[in-house]
Amino acid sequence: MKTRAAVMWNEGGPFEISELELSGPSADEVLVRFDYAGLCHTDEHMRNGDIGFAAPMVGGHEGSGVVEEIGPGVTHIKPGDHFVTSWMPYCGRCRFCLTGQTNLCDNGRFLMSGTMLDGTQRLTGRGAGVGAVDLLGTFSQWNVIPASCVVTIEKHIPLDTVVITACGVPTGWGSAVYAADTRPGDVTVVYGIGGIGINAVQGARHAGADLIVAVDPVAFKREMALAMGATNAFASAEEAHEFVWSHTRGVGADAAIITVGLVDKQVVSDAFSMIRKGGVVVVTAVANPDLLIEIPSFELTLYQKRITGSLFGSGNPHRDIRKIIELYDRGQIKLDELITRRYSLDDVNTGYDDMLAGLNVRGVLEIAH
Ligand SMILES: NC(=O)c1ccc[n+]([C@@H]2O[C@H](COP(=O)([O-])OP(=O)(O)OC[C@H]3O[C@@H](n4cnc5c(N)ncnc54)[C@H](O)[C@@H]3O)[C@@H](O)[C@H]2O)c1
Ligand SMILES: [Zn+2]
Ligand SMILES: [Zn+2]
Repeated sequence: MKTRAAVMWNEGGPFEISELELSGPSADEVLVRFDYAGLCHTDEHMRNGDIGFAAPMVGGHEGSGVVEEIGPGVTHIKPGDHFVTSWMPYCGRCRFCLTGQTNLCDNGRFLMSGTMLDGTQRLTGRGAGVGAVDLLGTFSQWNVIPASCVVTIEKHIPLDTVVITACGVPTGWGSAVYAADTRPGDVTVVYGIGGIGINAVQGARHAGADLIVAVDPVAFKREMALAMGATNAFASAEEAHEFVWSHTRGVGADAAIITVGLVDKQVVSDAFSMIRKGGVVVVTAVANPDLLIEIPSFELTLYQKRITGSLFGSGNPHRDIRKIIELYDRGQIKLDELITRRYSLDDVNTGYDDMLAGLNVRGVLEIAH
């Protein structure tokens, strides 16, 4: 069959809307129709060359829609099921899956490889094979994806809203709840209020943090942070530092969560100096692969400070996507307010330009068929 998709034909994009040929699902795969796709910054890192990948690739890893056809061996999903994508095609057998860390599954090695788990491709265009970001390529009308990336959801759940639970919401929420292990009364600082950081704010609030300090140079982002549970918001790390210092009598924050667009040395050292003895810096945002960070080793040891990376908010994608949707259904977490603008598939580059201009907390594509 044919599908229209936003393709990065070369490393360093931009997206070009192209018609591709799509073959049917192989074993343990499903053919899906994508109705909505979220604009996460990670695809933008690929579009502008911050991180490399095996071009050409269809963009997008936040998606929601309907299952159309199942491949051999798929037993737990059926055509007509509504679903949200999970970007880790977890195997269920590796050391990490077996210890409840499906976010770290060894199949992660396929995410930027451009092939399915069997090493072959389902999409072709311009006479050659085309890959898909995270084996998903949600910026496409249809695609074939691993069955283990399909999180089925109940039909009363609005697909156009919960599309952002595919990555941004659980990643931010888990960065505060799991990675920072936020406790009631905590002081939590969040650097960068985009689709990920706004949910670190929601997670910190949910876990009972007392002071939730948002840092973002964009005024609209600071307003959103305050509306979503932040107690204070500042344009610069210096102002936030001064505030936290005076409100903790010089003790410092329990946790500092980094969810800026692109990690640099400065934000990591700002966060490291912000935390108290025994506190934690959570680095959820992505850096250029060549970036080396510097932290004072003496302070690391004598103040027993910790610094940790966090992938998918250190949670289990299937479990956490379902949990977030239950919380949304019960009014415990806000999602509708996080989607600032909607775009057609053809306007995907505009969507990312708007994200970079600070206009969106999250942009979403509405995909016509
Ligand atoms: N670890 C994971 O599993 C995971 C998952 C998804 C996304 N990410 C990464 O998380 C990061 C955030 O993604 P997003 O979609 O929310 O991006 P976004 O562009 O929507 O938001 C980033 C925000 O950071 C702000 N910002 C930029 N520099 C800043 C600074 N120095 N101090 C404070 N704020 C600053 C921007 O104004 C913007 O509001 C990206 O690097 C993305 O690749 C990681
Ligand atoms: Zn695994
Ligand atoms: Zn993402």
